[in-house]
Amino acid sequence: MAMIAKQCPQHEITVVDINAERIAAWNSDHLPIFEPGLATVVQAQRGENLFFSTDVDAAIVAADMIFLSVNTPTKTYGLGAGRAADLRYLEKCARKIAEVAQSDKIVVEKSTLPVRTAASVKRILEANAKGRNFQILSNPEFLAEGTAMQDLAAPDRVLIGGDDSEAGQAAIEKLVEVYANWVPRERIITTNLWSSELSKLTANAFLAQRISSINAISALCEETGADVDEVAHAIGTDSRIGPKFLKASIGFGGSCFQKDIFNLVYLCEHFGLPEVAAYWNGVIEMNDYQKRRFARRVLATLFNTVSDKKIAVLGFAFKKDTNDTRESAAIYVCRDLLEEKAQIAIYDPQVSAHQIERELGAQDPATGWELCSDVYAATAGAHAVLILTEWDQFKDLDYTRIYQGMQQPAFLFDGRNLLDLKALRAIGFEASGIGKAGERI
Ligand code: UGA
Repeated sequence: MAMIAKQCPQHEITVVDINAERIAAWNSDHLPIFEPGLATVVQAQRGENLFFSTDVDAAIVAADMIFLSVNTPTKTYGLGAGRAADLRYLEKCARKIAEVAQSDKIVVEKSTLPVRTAASVKRILEANAKGRNFQILSNPEFLAEGTAMQDLAAPDRVLIGGDDSEAGQAAIEKLVEVYANWVPRERIITTNLWSSELSKLTANAFLAQRISSINAISALCEETGADVDEVAHAIGTDSRIGPKFLKASIGFGGSCFQKDIFNLVYLCEHFGLPEVAAYWNGVIEMNDYQKRRFARRVLATLFNTVSDKKIAVLGFAFKKDTNDTRESAAIYVCRDLLEEKAQIAIYDPQVSAHQIERELGAQDPATGWELCSDVYAATAGAHAVLILTEWDQFKDLDYTRIYQGMQQPAFLFDGRNLLDLKALRAIGFEASGIGKAGERI
């Protein structure tokens, strides 16, 4: 919405939320999320044509177009628990619009949803239309965290799905006009509603599949002496494969990939396609394996015990340049090591203790983890250093100083293949990465 406000001064954008604390944060100097470049745009547009408010009803009444951007987490209860999307927030929004709107509205699904959700929203709105016309569009978001502002400013494509009817096509055109303020027309793809919804899930499933594929190969590299980065580079030069999203890691995290694949799997099962469901579920299984495999390797290398050993974890966010920790692979690695009674010292330039507490429990010696505000304090006296997020600043640390402060032998596990292992070994570290055999044969 900040980007639309920036690119479309003729439009007035109001972002509403029932969470007053969150809206207050959006109206303050401390935005509730860290995203490079976002604060500048929000500060420039806020009070001009971008507003943040808790007055949901007034915003609905005033709007011509309403974007639904509520969260749709994986259900934790009842039928489909652990896999299906929880659509209660979305349904509440639809009912709210039906209750409050006094005129025709275009309702745009921005949240990532299972295919055919638009149909439910449509039914709720139409059953309560009382003479008003509601058009439903699907306009999935393809930005990635950490690069959101660039992705929004120059998207590969914008996707808009809508009804085939004349009114549906007119609604699509209205939204096309918004994006056409800065996105070339040929990059704005229009489809029917279902194709748009399914394209979003499919795009994320394909991206996640690439990561699981290269991570699967990383395990084989470790056994055979091949180097996964070399393999990724070699295959990525094939223009049909392409070089992106082939970085082996401790596994993908984030709020989207796993949730969207679960959604896809659930849909396939629902429509009687167990083979298709099993195929996509394999992407998640490989990811779980990769996270577990890393923690096991740390344990095995540290002489099969980490009990009471200090382990320094550098990076807790699910990727660099974000403070988002949702489904971060670091959570799983830390949990596995805490179960083995390790003492974990975490350093992350953006993540707060409060966020980690939600994942690992209270911060105290009994739970076994602490958050350090200084990377050298985190590594002092540690038996091992684990790089779990690829923050750029980790490339420039004083590794000689870190090495000298550690227990010997000093182990370093680079879960992101960020560092120069040869240079670390020259300092004295027992260093290993992902998909790399201990020493070159
Ligand atoms: C992902 C998609 O990339 C976006 O296109 C999509 O809009 C978004 O989900 C969404 O559905 O909202 P995001 O999760 O923000 O974006 O970040 P990614 O850059 O895709 O990274 C996801 C995870 O995969 C991270 O943990 C990252 O470290 C990992 N990853 C990524 C790898 O392990 N290797 C790679 O080569 C790339």
